[in-house]
Amino acid sequence: MAEKTILVTGGAGYVGSHVCKALARAGFTPVTYDNLIRGHRALVKWGPLVIGDVCDANGLAEVMAQHRPAAVMHFAALTVVGESVLYPEGYLRTNVGGTAAVLTAMRKQNVSRIIVSGTAAVYSTLAPSPITEDAPIAPANPYGDSKLAMEKLLGESGFGHVILRYFNAAGADPETETGEWHEPETHLVPNVLRAAAGIGPTLKMFGDDYPTPDGTCVRDYIHVNDIAAAHLLALKHLESQTGGHIFNLGTGTGHSVREVIDTARRVTGKPIPVTVEPRRPGDVPVLVADPARAMKALGWEARASLEQQVTDAWRWVQKSQV
Ligand SMILES: NC(=O)c1ccc[n+]([C@@H]2O[C@H](COP(=O)([O-])OP(=O)(O)OC[C@H]3O[C@@H](n4cnc5c(N)ncnc54)[C@H](O)[C@@H]3O)[C@@H](O)[C@H]2O)c1
Repeated sequence: MAEKTILVTGGAGYVGSHVCKALARAGFTPVTYDNLIRGHRALVKWGPLVIGDVCDANGLAEVMAQHRPAAVMHFAALTVVGESVLYPEGYLRTNVGGTAAVLTAMRKQNVSRIIVSGTAAVYSTLAPSPITEDAPIAPANPYGDSKLAMEKLLGESGFGHVILRYFNAAGADPETETGEWHEPETHLVPNVLRAAAGIGPTLKMFGDDYPTPDGTCVRDYIHVNDIAAAHLLALKHLESQTGGHIFNLGTGTGHSVREVIDTARRVTGKPIPVTVEPRRPGDVPVLVADPARAMKALGWEARASLEQQVTDAWRWVQKSQV
């Protein structure tokens, strides 16, 4: 029984809650550890919730002593790039200090495996797409800095670990039991759909003069359930592999902001008001993953198209009105 328990930090958040559902489906008990600063109690449906700060190593150790998890999946983090510029010390405290606390608690309780949320924000803005894991690393903001410091800490920790560098997570549970619920929401797909549903402001498109086919930025959107599937495969990977492993999670195909908006218009059947704003500093024209390493080592593949991601996200927005 104990072997089937996974400690999920940040399990009340967007990606974490989808992973909890996938874990439960696979026969695991996900124990969520979250302070609900950005997450939601209502999204914790597949196992117990322990409310606590991820920087509290003693609190984490107590939960590990009680539940004896086979591994930790670590999602708890602050994730808003713009906020990280204004509040870098908070990002360092939560994203690096929180990871340090998780590792301290693991050492104390003899938990030896961890899977963490990395991000494409660690790559240099000069790295050409498609981006492999060996592309130049040079985060462009404090959020990316904090995630890179987290990676370094893991590398030095001696624990068996997998770092999954997500590109742009999108979509929602097709059964609408959970979905994307950020406040503030900074991601394109939910903001396009909020505009379509009339519950969000007019969509701002930042820059239409980039050197891309339609002038708008191109990103690699990946269904949150494809990300969840990779976490289960990463867990399996750590049963037979020691050391540290880094994988990109993306589809390998880019879609422009205009394509996302057009897809949303088609899926929702609604008009989506858009204004064109100046470019945002730090946005690169194209950011697309090369997911070959994860495909080869984990036997993983992103399955859901952009259309599917927008369809599932739209169902969630209609039901939840968030
Ligand atoms: N959403 C994306 O597109 C994306 C892309 C790349 C990487 N990531 C990474 O994936 C992870 C999950 O992202 P998300 O979009 O689900 O974010 P989210 O904000 O929905 O979830 C993060 C969760 O962590 C919790 N948390 C934050 N600070 C905490 C603290 N001090 N103590 C305890 N819990 C705390 C929040 O309450 C929330 O439930 C993050 O580590 C993020 O950096 C996300």
